[in-house]
Amino acid sequence: MEGYVEKIRELRESGDWQGIVQLYENGFTDEKLLWFQPDSNGLNFLRKNLAELGVQGVSSIGCGSGLLEWLINSSTGLPVIGYEIDLGWWQSKHSPPKFLKEISYIDPTTLPQLNPQFALLFCYFNDSKVFEAYLDSFRGDCVILIGPDEKNKIRYCDPEPFQLKDEERWCIHAAWRSKFLEAIVIYRRSTTTVCPQ
Ligand SMILES: C[S@@+](CC[C@H](N)C(=O)[O-])C[C@H]1O[C@@H](n2cnc3c(N)ncnc32)[C@H](O)[C@@H]1O
Repeated sequence: MEGYVEKIRELRESGDWQGIVQLYENGFTDEKLLWFQPDSNGLNFLRKNLAELGVQGVSSIGCGSGLLEWLINSSTGLPVIGYEIDLGWWQSKHSPPKFLKEISYIDPTTLPQLNPQFALLFCYFNDSKVFEAYLDSFRGDCVILIGPDEKNKIRYCDPEPFQLKDEERWCIHAAWRSKFLEAIVIYRRSTTTVCPQ
């Protein structure tokens, strides 16, 4: 596994995001780097749908190493800002490598100011109370949830990707499921009481 981490670090340094995606497509996973298993179809799905919605960037809450965020930035061209807690851990010698330069380390008791032109992303987040607080304060029109799909009985996160499907305030704009039983669901703010089919 250590060899793969080094390889991913090198690919990151040379800007070869497709090379990293290929490793994941071939089955590589390591939760220390990224819980999600990205592939090129999923990144294309994000690029196409975020452009369709006119999103100007992505704010990712609980970005971890920032690997997914760097892949999104590289594949879509959109600016991506990551937010994490516990700077002490992330600065320690035991922490995983960091792949995104734009990570803001925040106090978990306060919410950062988020750009409403940016989509709000949660990938394998695991705190529904914090998620609700972000959603209540968010003024933007696009939320992205990533995690295991409905068929995946092994993995878990909170919120799960389809969590907002029955919420009045949000409509599913597009959903994508991967061969690894994971899903990316893009929501847009609802302007009517019923979401168009
Ligand atoms: C399961 S990990 C997922 C990390 C990354 N998104 C991924 O998919 O690899 C959840 C992350 O959320 C972060 N987190 C928890 N509470 C948070 C908060 N209030 N604000 C920002 N990040 C938080 C944790 O530190 C952890 O890195």
